[in-house]
Amino acid sequence: MKSLILYRSEYGSTEQYARWIGEELSSQHDVIDNLSKYDMEDYDLIIVGEGVYAGQMKAAKRLVPIIERYPDKRFIFFIVGIADMEDKVNRDKLYSDLAKAMGPAIEKTKVFFLRGVLDYSKMNLKHKSMMWMLVNYLKKKPKKDLPKDGDQLISTYGKKVSFIDKKSIEPLVEFAKGKLPDENIEP
Ligand SMILES: Cc1cc2nc3c(=O)[nH]c(=O)nc-3n(C[C@H](O)[C@H](O)[C@H](O)COP(=O)(O)O)c2cc1C
Repeated sequence: MKSLILYRSEYGSTEQYARWIGEELSSQHDVIDNLSKYDMEDYDLIIVGEGVYAGQMKAAKRLVPIIERYPDKRFIFFIVGIADMEDKVNRDKLYSDLAKAMGPAIEKTKVFFLRGVLDYSKMNLKHKSMMWMLVNYLKKKPKKDLPKDGDQLISTYGKKVSFIDKKSIEPLVEFAKGKLPDENIEP
């Protein structure tokens, strides 16, 4: 089985996951902007990953024409976000954001959820102000209406939080190696 990993990463956590997955599968990883360098015919499995920003998944949109052109290949998409991925509410939200980006092509894609990093010292101005707006919006909500990890977003505002974890790639790697059932994965 030959696989290719393509990713979009603004601050490096998705890139780190892509590197780890690449090591486990002995496959090449590259930024999705270099997509045209590769002939998809050469691969059995195409893995795409990206860090999510306010629900936006740009790399996912670039996977769609590949799925449409090569429907018999296997596809994995991994989402990297700061949300608690153990929480089904968060996974459902991210899955529905992904479904919006991919349309029906999502049915052919196995989806995994991995947790990343928030480091305010590295954020660009646009991202800093988006986080400022989000945290201020959350602060105004009554505690009972806060999302489960809302408190954590408020208390870690301005700091660095990292949930990056090599072990969390294991189910993806097992699936890629064909050791887990091949049905489309509802989150
Ligand atoms: C402005 C902004 C918006 C974000 N929006 C989301 C989001 O909607 N859901 C989520 O789980 N994480 C969100 N995150 C967290 C990022 O997805 C997380 O930091 C991830 O590790 C980024 O991946 P990267 O380092 O590969 O760019 C956001 C981060 C920033 C700075």
